[in-house]
Amino acid sequence: MIVQTINLTKRYGKLVALNNLELNLEEGECFGYIGPNGAGKTTTIKILATLLQPTWGEARICGHVVGYESRKIRPLIGYVPDFFGAYEDMVVQEYLEFFASAYNITGKQRTRVVGDVLELTDLEYKKEALVDSLSRGMQQRLSLARVLLHDPKVLLLDEPASGLDPRARIEIRELLKELRHMGKTIVIS
Ligand SMILES: Nc1ncnc2c1ncn2[C@@H]1O[C@H](COP(=O)(O)OP(=O)(O)O)[C@@H](O)[C@H]1O
Ligand SMILES: [Mg+2]
Repeated sequence: MIVQTINLTKRYGKLVALNNLELNLEEGECFGYIGPNGAGKTTTIKILATLLQPTWGEARICGHVVGYESRKIRPLIGYVPDFFGAYEDMVVQEYLEFFASAYNITGKQRTRVVGDVLELTDLEYKKEALVDSLSRGMQQRLSLARVLLHDPKVLLLDEPASGLDPRARIEIRELLKELRHMGKTIVIS
């Protein structure tokens, strides 16, 4: 099991946001996580991304336990939150180089990796554009490009198609198909 949760439970005070969730995903699986607002999707994804601790139960990525072995988990995952992050005053290429450096990818390797993810996400022609000037669909593709830099095994995508027009949604779907063919395990709400 590449992603596994056992009795995963999260409380915020008295509110039970997640109740004994059992998830088992095999490598290469694409798991669509559906539920109404407030169902606990973001909470689950944040726990898997090592950003929240469960109240009870356990979550594992590649066998490593969230909260105990988070440093082993982080290189294995790519997390796209349900909002677009800061750094709007950078151009696309700088933005990706900055995040690559955060994963200790430097020099020629960084140039190559940034070029590869720009090509994969069809953003090469925008590499000199300010992040702030991109359309919502392009920003979403850039968010995906950012989490692919370190070639993670597992992608955790929190509503990546929300707020996108139909054309941009189709583009995201095509991109996800490509990532699946690359063998990524995908959790998508
Ligand atoms: N930081 C928080 N503090 C208190 N309650 C929270 C917090 N985050 C989420 N919740 C509550 O937990 C429940 C699940 O939220 P969430 O995981 O965001 O659901 P979803 O992503 O499926 O809409 C909701 O009732 C929400 O109001
Ligand atoms: Mg949510």
